[in-house]
Amino acid sequence: MAVRDTNLQQLLNISQRIIAASANYRAVMAGERIFESLARPAGSRAAATVQRLPACDHPLAAALAGTSAQHSPLPELGTAFGALEGGLHWYRRKNAEALGQPFIDGHANAVLIGPDGIEQRDDVLVGATVMAPHIVYPDHDHPPEEVYIAMSPGEWWNAEMNWTEPGPGGIIYNPPGILHAMRSHTKPFLALWFLPID
Ligand SMILES: [Fe+2]
Repeated sequence: MAVRDTNLQQLLNISQRIIAASANYRAVMAGERIFESLARPAGSRAAATVQRLPACDHPLAAALAGTSAQHSPLPELGTAFGALEGGLHWYRRKNAEALGQPFIDGHANAVLIGPDGIEQRDDVLVGATVMAPHIVYPDHDHPPEEVYIAMSPGEWWNAEMNWTEPGPGGIIYNPPGILHAMRSHTKPFLALWFLPID
């Protein structure tokens, strides 16, 4: 049985507590499904083909530095993620080219747990998005529901919710299939995302 990376386990433990404490009932229920799956034997550990993108430099470092100024458990979550981020395969959203150079240079995504993650399994997807200031991540949708943990300032929108600023340590819940988006304002943006996969 594969043993989960220590920093990844720490990141999951903190994330589980944050989501479980949310006032959003649907986020709490999704979190229960996600962490129930993740409590089963870890998927195979894989060394990702490390890839850095421009947004992995200043925006990510600044966002991580920002977590250390927040209330617990954000500093601990930032430390766990900071220990992992250098080993990830950061990639751009598909069709990023159509959205112009600021978006191309100003965002990056990485999978932590999932088919292409540092833990490979197919029942849960866990990843991260970083964005430079003043970037809009375009409307998109996907069948699974999704829980975000904000690790920085930034705003989220979905077809049932006006633009909302959860604040660092806050939660956003997107129901299955809903159209949704996010944007940074004056500060770099960093968020984790968690999707249960049927
Ligand atoms: Fe999404």
